[in-house]
Amino acid sequence: MTPNELTEAFTAVYGEAPDGVWAAPGRVNLIGEHTDYNDGFVLPIALPHAARAAVRLRADDRLRLHSAQGDGGVVELTADQVRPGAVPGWARYPAGVVWALRDAGHPVGGADIHFDSDVPTGAGLSSSAALECVVAVAYNDLWDLGLGRVELGLLAQRAENVFVGVPCGAMDQLASTCCEAGRAMFLDTRTLTARQLPVDLAAAGLRLLVVDTRVKHDLADGAYAERRSGCEKAAGLLGLPALRDLGPAGLPAALDALPDEGLRALTRHVVTENARVEAAVEAMLAGDPAALGPILTAGHASLRDDFRVSCDETDLVVETAVAAGALGARMTGGGFGGSVIALVAEADAEHVAAAVTAAFTAAGYATPRVFTALAAQGARRLA
Ligand code: GLA
Repeated sequence: MTPNELTEAFTAVYGEAPDGVWAAPGRVNLIGEHTDYNDGFVLPIALPHAARAAVRLRADDRLRLHSAQGDGGVVELTADQVRPGAVPGWARYPAGVVWALRDAGHPVGGADIHFDSDVPTGAGLSSSAALECVVAVAYNDLWDLGLGRVELGLLAQRAENVFVGVPCGAMDQLASTCCEAGRAMFLDTRTLTARQLPVDLAAAGLRLLVVDTRVKHDLADGAYAERRSGCEKAAGLLGLPALRDLGPAGLPAALDALPDEGLRALTRHVVTENARVEAAVEAMLAGDPAALGPILTAGHASLRDDFRVSCDETDLVVETAVAAGALGARMTGGGFGGSVIALVAEADAEHVAAAVTAAFTAAGYATPRVFTALAAQGARRLA
């Protein structure tokens, strides 16, 4: 959908033209899963798939929200109704950002907004972060708030944590606001310093496939929160501010000190995953992206066996892709379904995609959606 199409759709819904059009992308994380709420490292790229929004400020403080993916109706909210826990459905993501801005002391008013997103929902590709971040950047521009990309991402994360009630880390929102085209963002989630690393897989004859298993994940279902509190408990028992503070050298002693296997497994994942991010960054800096392959597959094994957030469908994609010649593969995002990424040689891409699709048919699963990930630009104004 072009900015013109968004402008026309907005005008059809609200009867006048918008002030502008913005976009904020979904993401895939190359490596560094369930590390962001442990103060650790992540390495996401932004996808070309984005939430787009045509926005017109209102003279009052009402919000009117309409989505091309919705039921056709306009969700209308008074300022009073924009409070944590009070807004149901998809509208809580944009409304949450307006709440977070007001709660942070920005006296922003209302707006009419028309959304159109092509980020698959429930696929572990951060469709909700995209909806949040597009509102954050639009409001920043229209209200001349002067907020930086990191601040906007953190405001969107706060909307998700407090307004929506999902205790996520900051990766998805910061990927959506801060990623750059053609680059992967190596982010230290403790210091919030980011290094933008060139990622030119095509030049190395490689491709990154995304396989959306179509198994819907729902981070609000408690399993995510359980993992997070388990990690915090382990860090507390070890006398550390966060599991980030434990390096591979200290891991054996820490595992001996922890009282149960569940906490040991969570800790083992976080420590080894942070090390995998650092190894992936080294491979990229050395101009050897093919070396990412085994790192991805090892990351998946850790998420499956230690962190226990994979599922039969994501495991099947990883096994099938690797058996069909992928250099490596892993689930990406929160888990419990969602998507898998597979690093493949250009020449093997079709074969790997066909093998995964055939394996799903044989297992009686729905046909997965397969596409090539390109590192796209973070949130921005389109018109
Ligand atoms: C979800 C959360 C992120 C992160 C990932 C797992 O996407 O929103 O903050 O924790 O899961 O890496």
